[in-house]
Amino acid sequence: MGLGVLLYLLFCINYLLLDRQGSAVLAGGLQLVRELELKEEKDAPFLPEIPPSGSPFPLYPSLAPSPLSSFINISTPKLSGQCTLNFTSVDSLITTTATDCFAAFAPFLANVICCPQLDATLTILIGQSSLQTGVLSLDPVHANHCLSDIQQLLSSRGSELNLKSICAMHLSNLTEGSCPIKDVNSFESVVDSSRVLEACQKVGPVNECCSRVCQNAIEEAARKVAARGNGLTGSGGIEDMSEKEKVVSCRRIVVRWLSRRLEPGPAKQMLRQISNCNVNGVCPLVFPDTGKVAKECAQKIENHSICCNAIESYVSHLQKQSFITNLQALDCASSLGMKLQKMNVTANVFALCGVSLKDFSLQVSGCLLPSMPSDATLDPVTGVSFTCDLNDNIAAPWPSSIQASTSSCNKCIQMNSFVLRLLQYQSRNL
Ligand SMILES: *[C@@H]1O[C@H](CO)[C@@H](O)[C@H](O)[C@H]1NC(C)=O
Ligand SMILES: *[C@@H]1O[C@H](CO)[C@@H](O)[C@H](O)[C@H]1NC(C)=O
Ligand SMILES: *[C@@H]1O[C@H](CO)[C@@H](O)[C@H](O)[C@H]1NC(C)=O
Ligand SMILES: *[C@@H]1O[C@H](CO)[C@@H](O)[C@H](O)[C@H]1NC(C)=O
Ligand SMILES: *[C@@H]1O[C@H](CO)[C@@H](O)[C@H](O)[C@H]1NC(C)=O
Repeated sequence: MGLGVLLYLLFCINYLLLDRQGSAVLAGGLQLVRELELKEEKDAPFLPEIPPSGSPFPLYPSLAPSPLSSFINISTPKLSGQCTLNFTSVDSLITTTATDCFAAFAPFLANVICCPQLDATLTILIGQSSLQTGVLSLDPVHANHCLSDIQQLLSSRGSELNLKSICAMHLSNLTEGSCPIKDVNSFESVVDSSRVLEACQKVGPVNECCSRVCQNAIEEAARKVAARGNGLTGSGGIEDMSEKEKVVSCRRIVVRWLSRRLEPGPAKQMLRQISNCNVNGVCPLVFPDTGKVAKECAQKIENHSICCNAIESYVSHLQKQSFITNLQALDCASSLGMKLQKMNVTANVFALCGVSLKDFSLQVSGCLLPSMPSDATLDPVTGVSFTCDLNDNIAAPWPSSIQASTSSCNKCIQMNSFVLRLLQYQSRNL
């Protein structure tokens, strides 16, 4: 009996990777996608031999076996009974979040899919519950119970248990923080609410990142609310600091109010689109010291293969960190390129060594996520799957001095030229 359970767990952790060709229409332009399936190997005739100290997971070095025991079965969550949020009103949202943050994948999808989805779910939960309470926040005691209940609920549907630390969940994600206004009536008396609603009820996937129509409306409303109850304040340093915090807190109140006015589906769409704009603006990877690469590749490169080995070894460290989007990969390539240039690497070593954009993402058959990633899906038979950008074999661009600054305007140009390059790539390969 005991052996049976052990064998089951070992089968569970032995993932099979399958590629499947598919297509989808995304962000107004045609994009080919590859669906990546992470599959449970059920019929493995033999157990894999697990090295005594090393990791048994060639693809996910830090996979822990224990959470996988909840691969299929939904368990009953232990709820506190003290949380006033109405979980049933956003039931499907919670299921989606549990899949986006599924067990061992959560850390690798945290930045782009899991945490933005969790964030949206918390916001919508409060927005929807304000329909009953008239308040856009929870007090700290209830917030504490609710945070714990949400984690219970999500993990009972398969999510990673430790989302609190992976996604930096704080009380402030549910409370009013330092925002002076929390009830709906006061909010609507201060803010031009129809204007905010107008700006945010139809957020375009590409346009919003450039025009920031909804984001600017949220920002303006947050500043208005934050200034309420201020009276006359000076502009001292400490004052400015708490002023900034206030605006951050009030921004949360504004998006909760929006989630009250919109249905959960459109609210989620809006929140994720906005978060995509922010996610794509920064490279989330941590860059180790580039000294070794610089040593082999700086100035006149003596031996190409030694330099490229150093690059490959360096990039292989980046590949263990996270799934990233195609636009993030552009950011990452540019960050690494500039770091190397600062250390006197003058040759385009990306071209020299054949580094492509997908080399910056987690290497499970080279999956680069689309810039507007969709949610992961869970099928009890085939497992968790999510969509990858098939056009990921694009050479990593070596930064030139012209594109030094990355303002939001540059970002738009970058995004458009990226789409253009994708199309060129496609027509070449069709
Ligand atoms: C899931 O539930 C089914 C039926 O209740 C049971 O047979 C199976 O062993 C459970 N699987 C796990 C992984 O707990
Ligand atoms: C919670 O939401 C559901 C679905 O929207 C609704 O039917 C139910 O009445 C709500 N429960 C409470 C206590 O408000
Ligand atoms: C909670 O709030 C913090 C601080 O603003 C933010 O960084 C984090 O992403 C939020 N997490 C969730 C799950 O909402
Ligand atoms: C480069 O270095 C490698 C390994 O040290 C060596 O085998 C190879 O011959 C060198 N190539 C050239 C062109 O010097
Ligand atoms: C780069 O090269 C310059 C001139 O050859 C030298 O002065 C400088 O120390 C080098 N910088 C690094 C980081 O190696």
